[in-house]
Amino acid sequence: MAALCVGFISPAHAAPDPEKLYETHCLSCHAPNRLGGMGPTLLPESLARLKRADAYKAIAEGLPATQMPGFKEMLKEDEMQVLTAWIYTPNKIPPKWDAEDITASHIVNTENVGLPAKPVFKADPSNVTLVVEHGDHHISILDGDVMEPFHRFQTRYALHGGPKFTPDGRFVYWASRDGWITKYDLWNLKVVAEVRAGINTRNVAVSSDGQYVMVANYLPHTLVALSGKDLSLVKVIPVVARNGKTSRVSAVYDARPRASFVAALKDIPEVWEIPYDGRPVYKGLVHDYQYKEAIAEPGPLPVRQIVLDQILDDFFFDQSYNYLMGASRDVPKGQVVHMGVGRKIADLDIPGMPHLGSGITWEWTDDKGVTHPVMASPNLKDGHIQVIDMKTWKTLKVIPTAGPGFFLRSHEETPYAWADVFFGKNRDVMHVIDKRSLEVVADLKPEPGKTATHVEFDRYGKYALVSLWEMDGALIVYDAKTLKEVKRLPMKRPVGKYNVWNKTRLSAGTSH
Ligand code: HEC
Repeated sequence: MAALCVGFISPAHAAPDPEKLYETHCLSCHAPNRLGGMGPTLLPESLARLKRADAYKAIAEGLPATQMPGFKEMLKEDEMQVLTAWIYTPNKIPPKWDAEDITASHIVNTENVGLPAKPVFKADPSNVTLVVEHGDHHISILDGDVMEPFHRFQTRYALHGGPKFTPDGRFVYWASRDGWITKYDLWNLKVVAEVRAGINTRNVAVSSDGQYVMVANYLPHTLVALSGKDLSLVKVIPVVARNGKTSRVSAVYDARPRASFVAALKDIPEVWEIPYDGRPVYKGLVHDYQYKEAIAEPGPLPVRQIVLDQILDDFFFDQSYNYLMGASRDVPKGQVVHMGVGRKIADLDIPGMPHLGSGITWEWTDDKGVTHPVMASPNLKDGHIQVIDMKTWKTLKVIPTAGPGFFLRSHEETPYAWADVFFGKNRDVMHVIDKRSLEVVADLKPEPGKTATHVEFDRYGKYALVSLWEMDGALIVYDAKTLKEVKRLPMKRPVGKYNVWNKTRLSAGTSH
């Protein structure tokens, strides 16, 4: 039947060919192989968060106030349908982004190199907070003492993972979804350098000596080490398991007390530790007693492969970075890994889908006056916050919430932890939990019906900042003591907020 028809169908009635349509109408902005250029990357990994109906709408009507034109006058409905479906399919040839591509993309703004080591603004540089506005791809910079923005600028498309500061707080690095890494001079308010380190990127980590920036990629399956100085390429590290299987990298962390990067891998049951202080890593060995027979891996940034029996792609570290609490989005069971010996030392009973990456820790005192280091994390599937004793690794308490949450945050100077309800009908609620009683003591509803998310504090823990996650949203400033609203700063879909002091001092109330 199909064979018979082919001869009769005139080209005008043939099913539209998405590749041809792409070449004619989209390639000029979205680049060959959909890798992204002036317009963003259009590959399945990149579009994971974009609903197909919204992709169709973007193609038909364009995106207001951007360079993305609407095509409904130019293309037929079925052509737009076919194009929409096609951008969610992988490339025929697996996309490549190797050392050559990375180096070719490198940009250094020489006029912004070596500027004076003195802030050009009056605000206390240690109490500055960056706010990432996803709505129109901007960053706003706030003076944390008075909670007023004093600078706002455009970023690359769709920043992903948090900005990371150098220990002195002067420079900050961030990654975009499409792999662009930026080095920014926060004291001079200038972009120093940029490089495209991948096609689909999760986050960056900066070594505590400022020497290296490590990039975690989904596409290709690599970790990319860059020079902290100018983002020039140091090394591409292919992520390959002992058995040859490659993996996406979920995230990379700076384990400062260990002078190493630690990478969470999405597809293989390994955790990678990459020392950056020059100490050796011995090939193919897990336990110390094997050192004698082992050969040290040559070159900078060697990889120590910690082999586990389960994939762990979401991490929480204790403050010493000796213990890693890990979970996998697919397995409702967690593990504690001792980083020194490189193996599991305890199981964690964490039902649902814990979001360990946004957990926090504090010292909790029981009724006998004994203090316990505890960690608490929200849950992406169940409406509860789980509090775990980090000495026994047992659950101390399950605090019910009004729905699954995304972020939990606190600060050393406040007795409260703030938990959002990110999913479901109560996503406008923000719970305030007393870290002493482990009870919810207040429910805030900044704007009924609108998602309230991601709390961060200023340096002193005086203000709590809540994001009203809307295109015409706001940053809502609360008095962290009285829980009263102080003011609202209008922002375009604000998400994360990053205070220089809290992030560089590894505050226990926030992620690092
Ligand atoms: C003149 C340049 C240009 C052309 C031509 C163009 N785009 Fe775009 N496109 C953009 C830009 C820029 C954006 C990002 C807009 C923004 O800032 O939100 C975008 C965004 C998109 C998005 C949303 C991506 C996301 O992650 O949210 C889709 C889908 C898309 N384009 C598909 C297409 C398709 C399919 C075509 C061809 C029919 C096309 N575009 C042609 C510039 C272009």
